[in-house]
Amino acid sequence: MADEFTPKRAELQDARAYAELSSKFTQGIAEKAIDLFFPKAESLVIHDNGCGTGEVTRAILARSSVPSLTIKANDNDPLYVEAYAAAAKSNGWPAETFNMSADALDFEDNTFDISFANFVVFLIPDDGVPALREMHRTLKPGGTAIYTAWQLLPVFEPVQKATLATRGPNGPLLRTLPPIWQSGEFLAGLAAKAGFEKDNVRLETLSNKVPIKDIREFAENTWSRLGRPLTGWLQGDEESWDAAVDAFLEFCEASDSYERLENGEWLIEVRANVVFATK
Ligand SMILES: C[S@@+](CC[C@H](N)C(=O)[O-])C[C@H]1O[C@@H](n2cnc3c(N)ncnc32)[C@H](O)[C@@H]1O
Repeated sequence: MADEFTPKRAELQDARAYAELSSKFTQGIAEKAIDLFFPKAESLVIHDNGCGTGEVTRAILARSSVPSLTIKANDNDPLYVEAYAAAAKSNGWPAETFNMSADALDFEDNTFDISFANFVVFLIPDDGVPALREMHRTLKPGGTAIYTAWQLLPVFEPVQKATLATRGPNGPLLRTLPPIWQSGEFLAGLAAKAGFEKDNVRLETLSNKVPIKDIREFAENTWSRLGRPLTGWLQGDEESWDAAVDAFLEFCEASDSYERLENGEWLIEVRANVVFATK
């Protein structure tokens, strides 16, 4: 909304900086998933599904020694399609970009060797099953779908602490991580609903430590995104901005998922459930 009230400190936060931060979290898991599973072949056709700004593509290209790779990347947000296309052009990626929804792909049946939807299926209605069906349809026989969801993403709790400290116990609702999507069994079970044989589905839980240079900047940036109530910012959020950030940081100091290094930088532990489902 153009005329929605936004605290000045939230406006000052750079959307690109936040996007770069989120990329670090998602790309780290993509890298670990690829380290676990990547076929050796002369040529592969890969689907980067819900591509964002190209985290999966970057992870694959940094690791693969496959002589001939073709990547088709889609997103349903034109801003991401544009950002991915620009990165593909400037980095010379062997990639084509499509503005396409994951649950209605225009790709032919049996197109891909690997179809990777990194932190995407939980954004799609009907538990993402329509998107997984499309992944199954467009995979070659023997091809593998990889899809992920967070099991541990310790950014929502400090935001809850900050809202409690500044808006009280009856504050407005915020975005959260729905508990069902943290369950590996639930995530793996979706593959069977989408047509994959149960015996061809493997679930792994992968963890990573994400380096954060400036924890205050991280707290302020995260609060400026996740601290916005679903119904919009409150006038009081302007005045209580520093108190919110301080409460966020108090959580980090006390949490086992946050580790302060001697050089003043931090590591944040994250964990994701990763499903590998072969057609
Ligand atoms: C959390 S981001 C993950 C981006 C990237 N895969 C990564 O690993 O960082 C989720 C992405 O899914 C995209 N997305 C959401 N719904 C989608 C849909 N129905 N079809 C295609 N992409 C979708 C979003 O626009 C966003 O780029």
